[in-house]
Amino acid sequence: MSCIEWGDAYSVCVEFLDEDHKQLFALLRKADDACKLDTQTENYPLIVNELVSYLLNHFAAEEGYMNKIKYPDIAAHKHEHELFYNRVLAFQQKIYENKEDYTKDMLDLTETLSHWLHHHILNVDQQYTNFVVLSYFK
Ligand SMILES: [Fe+2]
Repeated sequence: MSCIEWGDAYSVCVEFLDEDHKQLFALLRKADDACKLDTQTENYPLIVNELVSYLLNHFAAEEGYMNKIKYPDIAAHKHEHELFYNRVLAFQQKIYENKEDYTKDMLDLTETLSHWLHHHILNVDQQYTNFVVLSYFK
């Protein structure tokens, strides 16, 4: 699953957060394409920086939204973001340092991020969607 496409199944029913997720998927495809071509190794650090900063902004936006809706499980959700962000930073460091396995490290990062995003949106993010939906019926 190195490349995932956004589809309605990934919707969290919040337009700006869906847009963020679509953009993250697009950045992942860009990273994956760069690996496949394998002629753009000099672009890897730029692509990774773009991913890392987009991820950071997205987490902040999503946490702001969860605060706004007074989502009760926000602490656990933030913790998941934090743990994952640290993993991505470790990848970024590796890509900066180890130029021999450049493409392998990039592919690992793309694969890891794709898996994480897929599971995180479906199992963690959509919990705040459920929370909003259920609160309408209270
Ligand atoms: Fe999240």
